[in-house]
Amino acid sequence: MTIAPAQHPPTAPPPQATNRLPRLLPHGPDVVDLAAHRARHGDLPGIGPAELLDALEASGLTGRGGAGFPTARKWRAVAAQRGPAVVVGNGAEGEPASSKDHVLLTRNPHLVLDGLLLAARAVGATRAVLYAEPDRAVQAALRRALAERADHTIEVVVAHHRFIAGEESAVVDAVSGGLGLPRARPPRVFERGVDGHPTLVQNAETLAHVALVAWYGPEWFRQVGTDAEPGSMLTTVHGTGADRRGRAVIEAAIGTPLTHLVNLDDTRAVLIGGYHGTWIDGDVARSTLLSRGSLGAVDGALGAGVVVPLPVWTCGLVETARVMVYLATQSAGQCGPCLNGLPRMALAVEALAESRAAPADLDDLRRWAGLVRGRGACAHPDGTARFLASALTVFDDEVRLHLDGHCTGTDRRPVLDVGRRP
Ligand SMILES: Cc1cc2nc3c(=O)[nH]c(=O)nc-3n(C[C@H](O)[C@H](O)[C@H](O)COP(=O)(O)O)c2cc1C
Ligand code: SF4
Repeated sequence: MTIAPAQHPPTAPPPQATNRLPRLLPHGPDVVDLAAHRARHGDLPGIGPAELLDALEASGLTGRGGAGFPTARKWRAVAAQRGPAVVVGNGAEGEPASSKDHVLLTRNPHLVLDGLLLAARAVGATRAVLYAEPDRAVQAALRRALAERADHTIEVVVAHHRFIAGEESAVVDAVSGGLGLPRARPPRVFERGVDGHPTLVQNAETLAHVALVAWYGPEWFRQVGTDAEPGSMLTTVHGTGADRRGRAVIEAAIGTPLTHLVNLDDTRAVLIGGYHGTWIDGDVARSTLLSRGSLGAVDGALGAGVVVPLPVWTCGLVETARVMVYLATQSAGQCGPCLNGLPRMALAVEALAESRAAPADLDDLRRWAGLVRGRGACAHPDGTARFLASALTVFDDEVRLHLDGHCTGTDRRPVLDVGRRP
């Protein structure tokens, strides 16, 4: 595959592409087709690989898939490898609490596809793959979008519906024709990934930002966000709507107060970053910003931008137990500590949530959480242990009450969803 440079010079920013948000999603409810996408932004920018890498570096763009790794650094590492590379856009979105890549791919797929082509050109890739969740709406949107394009240079690989499907070595395994299970490292995927080739795995949203940086430049990108963490990000905010049970995908400037995203009155705690993320206390959340820096200062993790307020009438241990059982079922069963440790931890939290646990069980729980960390081929045990540890800290009062047979929760309707995304 060769990805031809565009014949047209980069387009000047259209009026709607100034520093106003949203940048990534259409303003109305419509799906952006290729004609509307080109009318807004123009053809694929003709920017060369070196120039694009410099622009990405100057923009300060970091990965939006969870880890927040600097995008330019990752691209340079792939470009420096020998032999043809593979680029994979990661739209697996295995996290049930996140809907942002789903919304982006169904409503504005061409922005992601252009980012993917730009990435492929910049790192010298001979294959560009979009790895996307099996959801019918996403697959249909991609089929439609690719049919609109004449180039036929992008392949789609359908991800499995499981939490770890989007972990980068699992992505590489699936795109190589395997079962989509995480692989031991080294080698890292940028050294030897899909079919042994150097591979760039980049979150779908990150690729959409890449395309905008290529069109409008790093200064434009930095017009929102903070100096340390520039730009905007898609967040999946729960607890929206009058009954506080809905969810919405909101594009927000990094550094936005959490209280500007969602009503945090009567909120006991907030889960940040999804099921590998952390609980933070409600009072703390009310003075915290949507940024790695602000959240890191209160032991929170931004992850892929999931924000779930837990109302004061809901028990945090009951919610944590349900998610722990789910996470235990998502182990790929390849590594002993993950296969054995996660179910044990889940059963113990369940006992605690149901006020059947003794103080010794709590000690076991803390010990197991320490033992599984760093012992898996992927970060699934670490993320699960982090989530649990934050629950035991933030819901400390509730833990004591449960050990005495009490619970302050009065509404047992689930807040954290472990099924398919609504
Ligand atoms: C258990 C697990 C699940 C993950 N799931 C996803 C996912 O669904 N989508 C995604 O983009 N990244 C996911 N990641 C992160 C990827 O491994 C990888 O860091 C990311 O796709 C890189 O893209 P980015 O730099 O643009 O964020 C997951 C990581 C772990 C440990
Ligand atoms: S740590 Fe768990 S989820 Fe990750 S590869 Fe090993 S068994 Fe699978």
